[in-house]
Amino acid sequence: MTNIKHSWAEPYKIKMVELLKMTTASQRKKAMKEAGFNTFLLKSEDVYIDLLTDSGTSAMSDRQWAGMMLGDEAYAGSRNFYHLEEVVKEVYGYKYLIPTHQGRGAENILSKILIKKGDIIPGNMYFTTTRLHQELAGGKFEDIIIDEAHDPENEFPFKGNVDLNKLQKLIDKHGAKKIPYVSMATSVNMAGGQPISMKNLKELRALTKKHGIRVIHDMTRVAENAYFIQQKEKGYQNKSIKSIVKEINSYTDGATMSAKKDALVNIGGFLAVNDWDVFEEARNMVVVYEGLHTYGGLAGRDMEAMAIGIGESVNDDHIKARVGQVIYLGEKMLEYGVPIVKPIGGHGIFVDAKKFLPHINQDQFPAQTLAAEVYLDAGVRTMERGVVSAGRKANGENYYPKLELVRFTIPRRVYTQAHMDVIAESVARVYERRNKIKGMKMIYEPKYLRFFQARFEKL
Ligand code: F0G
Repeated sequence: MTNIKHSWAEPYKIKMVELLKMTTASQRKKAMKEAGFNTFLLKSEDVYIDLLTDSGTSAMSDRQWAGMMLGDEAYAGSRNFYHLEEVVKEVYGYKYLIPTHQGRGAENILSKILIKKGDIIPGNMYFTTTRLHQELAGGKFEDIIIDEAHDPENEFPFKGNVDLNKLQKLIDKHGAKKIPYVSMATSVNMAGGQPISMKNLKELRALTKKHGIRVIHDMTRVAENAYFIQQKEKGYQNKSIKSIVKEINSYTDGATMSAKKDALVNIGGFLAVNDWDVFEEARNMVVVYEGLHTYGGLAGRDMEAMAIGIGESVNDDHIKARVGQVIYLGEKMLEYGVPIVKPIGGHGIFVDAKKFLPHINQDQFPAQTLAAEVYLDAGVRTMERGVVSAGRKANGENYYPKLELVRFTIPRRVYTQAHMDVIAESVARVYERRNKIKGMKMIYEPKYLRFFQARFEKL
């Protein structure tokens, strides 16, 4: 009996549960209408399984909760800051730490320091807040991810890779002086949680070094990226997640972090850099936008929970179960014939709304429509990652992204395998009645990051 499989299972047991409200179809219909068919505007009480995001939605461990009781709530010099600083150095390998209230706080500070008006910021696909801060600082984002990333069907294992030819062309066209840094994300969110390979990263380092260009790492989901390297890249099978994470970081000059993801906390983030001069500027700026440089908008207890969470996030058993659960859900959906982005990524399943609802034009918001329909079926809340999320260019034109997706994001350590079954079955039911689903029109559009607050009506 050699072919019995080794299933993953959670390396923890459950000590406390949070009770959920179950809703009826008519309650959900009313709630969705009141929310303007935008899942961001639903009350969380009306949601059964919440897959809106994996951000700030993780379950903390008993150790993290114990750490919360050790919060040193001093305005300056909290011992939790020094603990966090030590952990960031030890686990991530970056020299200097500036805590921020969450990831976008770090993006704001970093963009303001490094970007001058007219600069070009190449990156492996945009992320909403990251690109907006780059633009607000006067820069222009240029997508240099490999073409495969824009194709949901392409099964290349490292769809987060940078296309070095695209980068070289930008350098030739604008000159390296116009490129303050390459914005490199691990586990590329908008592509479906797709990893970058270590080989690609090393090549990126070599090319940027030659031209004196920094690499700034969006390390929000770096441990999940490390898992795919361990599983799929030659030479890494016997390396620990911790050592892979540290190696990834070693090819970069600094990082912005939303600790609300990988690092298993409900709030928090940081900027971490190796250059003293950037650190010095950031330390000046953090007091304007976030708080003193030893708390950056966080309570002492938040920094303690983050320090402990970072340690747990690079544990091999943790990450195997975390990504294992995502893959379990993805494979279930595939069994039902639901079109999803392949390969399955690290933090969620991304359903291809263009394929799911081919009769709905991108101007009529197929992904937004599908997210609303999924909620109506069984109370599962997901998020649009398509034309609404992409927003408008500086000149007011809509971005039309190739990817029109609905993200089923799995919070870490929160839901069980039975929840995954309920989700897949619900999506399969919506898929069965897909031909009857009609698109929507936008009736309210906010100026920035419109996906958060836009409102829609059924056509
Ligand atoms: N970078 C990436 C890759 C992200 O996924 C996020 C947040 C941020 C930066 C910004 O961090 O929210 O702490 O300010 N992503 C969340 C999501 C909101 O649902 O994907 P933040």
